[in-house]
Amino acid sequence: MIVLGIETSCDETAAAVVRDDGEILADVVLSQVDQHRPFGGIVPEVAARAHLEFADHVVKQATHEAGIGFDELDAVAATGGPGLIGGVIVGVMTAKAIACAQNIPFVAVNHLEGHALTARLTENVKFPYLLLLVSGGHSQLLTVRGVGAYTRLGTTIDDAVGEAFDKSAKILGLGYPGGPPIEAAARDGDPTRFDLPRPLRGKPGCHFSFSGLKAAVKRTVDGLPPGPLDTQDVNDMAASFQAAVADVIGERTGRAIAEFRDQCPGGDTLVVAGGVAANTALRTRLEEVCADHGMRLAAPPSKLCTDNGAMIAWAGIEHLRAGHKGQDLDFAPRPRWPLDPNAPRAVGAGVKA
Ligand code: KG4
Ligand code: ZN
Repeated sequence: MIVLGIETSCDETAAAVVRDDGEILADVVLSQVDQHRPFGGIVPEVAARAHLEFADHVVKQATHEAGIGFDELDAVAATGGPGLIGGVIVGVMTAKAIACAQNIPFVAVNHLEGHALTARLTENVKFPYLLLLVSGGHSQLLTVRGVGAYTRLGTTIDDAVGEAFDKSAKILGLGYPGGPPIEAAARDGDPTRFDLPRPLRGKPGCHFSFSGLKAAVKRTVDGLPPGPLDTQDVNDMAASFQAAVADVIGERTGRAIAEFRDQCPGGDTLVVAGGVAANTALRTRLEEVCADHGMRLAAPPSKLCTDNGAMIAWAGIEHLRAGHKGQDLDFAPRPRWPLDPNAPRAVGAGVKA
């Protein structure tokens, strides 16, 4: 089975061709980061227009690189949500058109499910496993028991962790996206110089909170002597921020491992995915947490942690292999699409207890 996967839910226009034996025949990612950089963050309307302009080209390049024509595709999958709706509409319409013309199944994939299942493509991870999904839009801990069988153990009650990286980087004048320059600056910084908060650490449950951390970065920077920040200040703040993030995520993940073990006694793997999973300090901390709990850490290569079409094609393959037939062509793109529809709302869900 050969499946085309299309991803357009955020600021990457991406298409990939994947075979059901796990071979990635092509994986094309066109980043819009240069278009959004002047604004210091993603502008939804700019993103939608860029997807509209480039989706066809990216799909063409992916099939060209894979050396196949549309007639060799067995199905086409596209992110059906959640995400910035203008972009999701572009990807879904492109996929539906190909599916309709070729008379092949169209699979609308939940973007989060794409991230959730990638480790099965790259690391051959078996169900069940615990997933830590940390990106610019999401910070979640989920039990993954099978295709379509997810239980959310924790989520953020305010900002996503990638958002905290991006906003803190902006405060420090480090540019966008903020994760890579913060990680680089932190290498030469003192993580103990600034005493930043560890939101929700030690509290019951597995939820996250990052907006207070970002606010503390701002307050602390505002409290420094007037004038431009010097390099040492920036490096020390980056290191202090990154240490706080690693502390919080490490502790919350430790709690989630205990819950996961109760739910899935045979499970022994923690999968980390999403753009922030590229962070080496975080990976090191997660290795330690896993060693403490007798778990194994599985992390897809960075290129497949950030948004891409291969994860969407693969999630489509997983659904088709599980016997699903794909969606009707009247499927409506979804701005919101929780992986675990039964999860209670995080806000006020006992997190302050
Ligand atoms: O998964 P992703 O590519 O897109 C979303 O679905 O959001 O994640 C992008 C996020 C950005 O916030 C970016 O700053 C962060 O991932 N990021 C990092 C690193 N590389 C990317 N955060 C921390 N350390 C990194 N090395
Ligand atoms: Zn993503």
